[in-house]
Amino acid sequence: LSKTEKQIIKNSIRDIKDFPKPGIVFKDITTLLNNKEAYGVLMNHLYQRYKEYNLDYIAGIDARGFIFGAALAQMLGLGFVPIRKKGKLPYTTISEKYALEYGIDEIEVHIDAFGEKEGARVLVIDDLIATGGTANAAATLVNQTGAECVECCFILGLTFLDGIKKLQDKTDVYSVIEV
Ligand code: PRP
Ligand code: ADE
Repeated sequence: LSKTEKQIIKNSIRDIKDFPKPGIVFKDITTLLNNKEAYGVLMNHLYQRYKEYNLDYIAGIDARGFIFGAALAQMLGLGFVPIRKKGKLPYTTISEKYALEYGIDEIEVHIDAFGEKEGARVLVIDDLIATGGTANAAATLVNQTGAECVECCFILGLTFLDGIKKLQDKTDVYSVIEV
């Protein structure tokens, strides 16, 4: 990724102050998605990076991870697996609780999502890592199914929250942009 390309992606993400509550600067990726140049540069970069990883599946985290994950899976010729918020998946699931700023949340994956054979190589993708709670739970779930979380990929890494550092104990971590 060249400096210019990085800047194109960075400039396409909008900051919304005090959403969803006072004090939070919300990183709005809708302005990346509706910008065909930025979205194209980003997806091409992800394709170039992950085509050599010998992956079996792309797993996207509910909800914004679906947008990047499903597109990338198609580009790489791989299947896509949704990791969803609790109560949305219809078949047998395994689930994992994680801490939010206030209270707890829970995500789930279908028990058979990564196929019959053990050790499927899985890339977990989401738009952003903040505290890392969500991604940590997602990586745990993937590994619990018998598959292997090879890397967690984020478009944006918020470094001041230490989420990346914590997640690195469990899996490789890559963020396209760090702020
Ligand atoms: C956001 C974001 C990540 C998560 C990151 O999703 O898309 O999934 O928060 O935060 P963390 O690193 O502190 O866990 P959110 O839970 O807001 O759900 P949404 O995508 O459905 O809006
Ligand atoms: N999820 C957690 N923190 C966030 C932020 N600052 N912007 C967008 N999504 C988030």
